[in-house]
Amino acid sequence: MKRLIKNSRIGKVFFALMLICSFAACKKQEKREIAEGRIVQNFNKDWNFQLGKHSEAKDDSIDLTGWRTLDVPHDWSIEGEFSEEHPTKPEGGALPAGIGWYRKSFEVPADWKERDIFISFDGVYRNSEVWINGEYLGKRPFGYISFQYELTPYLKFEASNVIAVKVDNSAQPNSRWYTGSGIYRNVHLIAKSKIHIDHWGTFTTTPFVSEDSAKINLKVKLKNRRDTLKNIQIKSVILDHAGQKIADKERNVEISAEDSLEVTQEFNISNPKLWDTENPYLYSINTSILQNGKLLDNYKTPLGIREFYFDAEKGFFLNGELTKIHGVCLHHDNGALGAAINIHALERKLKLLKDMGANAIRMAHNPPSPEMLELTDKMGFIVQDEAFDVWKKGKVKEDYQTTWDDWYEKDLKAMLYRDRNHPSIMMWSIGNEIREQFDSTGLSITKELIDIVKSIDTTRPVTSALTENIPEKNFIWQSGALDLLGFNYKHEAYEDLPNRFPNQKFISSESISGLMSRGSYDMPSNERRNWPPAHNEEFDGNEDYTVSAYDQVSAYWGSTHEETWKTVKKLDHMAGMFVWTGFDYLGEPIPYPYPARSSYFGIIDLAGFPKDVYYMYKSEWNKEDVLHIFPHWNWEKEKTIDVWAYYNNADQVELFLNGKSLGTKSKKADDLHISWRVEYEPGTLKAISRKNGKTVLEKIIKSAGDPFKIKLEPNKSEFIADGDDLIFVTVDIVDKDGVLAPRAENLVNFEVIGGGKIVGVDNGYQASLESFKANKRKAFNGKCLVIIQSNGKNEPIKLQANSEGLESESVSIQINKKAKS
Ligand code: GAL
Repeated sequence: MKRLIKNSRIGKVFFALMLICSFAACKKQEKREIAEGRIVQNFNKDWNFQLGKHSEAKDDSIDLTGWRTLDVPHDWSIEGEFSEEHPTKPEGGALPAGIGWYRKSFEVPADWKERDIFISFDGVYRNSEVWINGEYLGKRPFGYISFQYELTPYLKFEASNVIAVKVDNSAQPNSRWYTGSGIYRNVHLIAKSKIHIDHWGTFTTTPFVSEDSAKINLKVKLKNRRDTLKNIQIKSVILDHAGQKIADKERNVEISAEDSLEVTQEFNISNPKLWDTENPYLYSINTSILQNGKLLDNYKTPLGIREFYFDAEKGFFLNGELTKIHGVCLHHDNGALGAAINIHALERKLKLLKDMGANAIRMAHNPPSPEMLELTDKMGFIVQDEAFDVWKKGKVKEDYQTTWDDWYEKDLKAMLYRDRNHPSIMMWSIGNEIREQFDSTGLSITKELIDIVKSIDTTRPVTSALTENIPEKNFIWQSGALDLLGFNYKHEAYEDLPNRFPNQKFISSESISGLMSRGSYDMPSNERRNWPPAHNEEFDGNEDYTVSAYDQVSAYWGSTHEETWKTVKKLDHMAGMFVWTGFDYLGEPIPYPYPARSSYFGIIDLAGFPKDVYYMYKSEWNKEDVLHIFPHWNWEKEKTIDVWAYYNNADQVELFLNGKSLGTKSKKADDLHISWRVEYEPGTLKAISRKNGKTVLEKIIKSAGDPFKIKLEPNKSEFIADGDDLIFVTVDIVDKDGVLAPRAENLVNFEVIGGGKIVGVDNGYQASLESFKANKRKAFNGKCLVIIQSNGKNEPIKLQANSEGLESESVSIQINKKAKS
């Protein structure tokens, strides 16, 4: 009988089932053990919020009548009305700031009594103060840094606890751009065993990297908060992207009572998959702390295996390959969502930049959210992580200089400890256009800051974004401590930099500051404008506060996009450049006064719609075929129109108007576009790019008739019903044949039913005073945007759009079943 079972098919199935069961039991066990390790809970839901001074709000129990209930990340500034009178001024986005209070009640389970419990804030703008059950935990002035407090001594178990957070953004102006106000990044509750890995306590480096093998070094800082010496085991496992184990190390250590200990583990991996900007391969290291087989703590460290260096003559090398840095600077806001962080909004931004061919981001001018760095790791961007916009000498009255003395060291260290495991980060910047570069106070501060960086990480060069390119006048440079010289603007001097600063490594840390409004065009397109022409000098701007989207206008300290890129492209010693900026951002509305309230610098507008110059970069930085012609084709009859084309992978482009050829053109020398001067007649403009006589691409632009209907285009057809996911819906006003009406400004009303809610509207117009938090928006140059967020209900979303005099439209977005299960 026994033999029968063993040998039969049934027997095989039986054993397979046994195996599956024991594997499942193992899995279960593993799950239970993980629950025994570190517990990290999202702490974003159900906060109470109230604007204004409420000193009683820190107390244990207060009357919450009149308080709103909301989830963080939250930015109260973006909910406000625009006004020139707000102390933030148009430079700060012309939105309200002030003081706000947040409170949240919560319970902790009794079995956490043996644990150390912390609350961690990824970022609160600004001057936050935190209380637990009426006890003061501390203050954090800097609005861009992550921090945590220990709650252990103050917690009540199986009873209600109250966290109160005061956010004071009332001292204004405190920034040169829009900051937002509130708990605008994620919050977590963390419960750890008394023996645990310290806060930001791991550090991984890759001291040797080749295609055949790599050496990985991991340092783990342990803490024993018990009063007895403990023998523990530290086990680290390197997992590949699919979660398969590829190496592990175990070590037994003794850790004294109330002590800390740093343990190093080294690994060798054969045939590592290298991280680069095209294939950003990610490993991870899971570290477990065990005592007699019981899991005490566990922590995951990201790992990307790559090797890079800057070279004084040749630029930048990644994994041995010469790589030009094609970067953009980004501020932290997400347009209509304000400063409130949402990973889906960040992902959309980075995807647009990736499609353009950008391979690098400079985090201007402060540390970004942790999610941003998770995405740059995952999507393959080289990052310059930047600590400060000012040191002791301020740029506006209430900025970081007011807290410099007490906080710079803690804040700089927090950035380094938090961020140093991200493979995407390849440069630390200690500051942007720092005033101390102009006098000898720059010498000692630079040295001190760089010493701090090097005490925490020696694997990345330290830079600073400088403006003074005359060596004798630049004291940050004279400190002799910088590894990489970043220069902002003044591209005419880039060629001479190696003569002025022999044997140094260079990058254009910021450049261009071109000005544009999407879809607006001033002719003649070759009339180069500096707006303003000089400091405080008047100029004739456009009455509607737009700036031409031909690449012809810049701030007086900047250049056109083509001018700087042509220079950087041909100079080998320039490792690359960071364009100011990838996206328009709130605040800094140069060149116009109010009602302009957001910037004109972006390659992409505030709503996320590319301006034409996006395609210039795409034709240069992305290998895909590009042919982009502009402007639109709705003009007064017989007007002379400049038609531009950006193209690549072709040797000529032929342009046709209503079937008649207007001639074939090719880029000459270092040209980055071609253009035709055309007498306008309505109809069809067609361009064909050809290589060796063969058509590469064909592009058509048609004159639009009157606005007739609404077209809706969601950026995804399925969403995750998790209360967090975002859908960005592009709204086009089109004629009866579906052609975009390029000047349409119809007001569109939105209604959402089902599993979503409207969380923002925009149209990219820099001088619009319409609210971002509304269910309607006027189109600007034919387009607007509505952002829908899952409301947590398990229902499809239906968006209905209506506008007086136009045919209505609706669209449905389904739930992504796969992601849900
Ligand atoms: C730079 C500065 C940026 C931004 C830019 C505007 O000098 O570093 O933060 O202000 O000018 O052109």
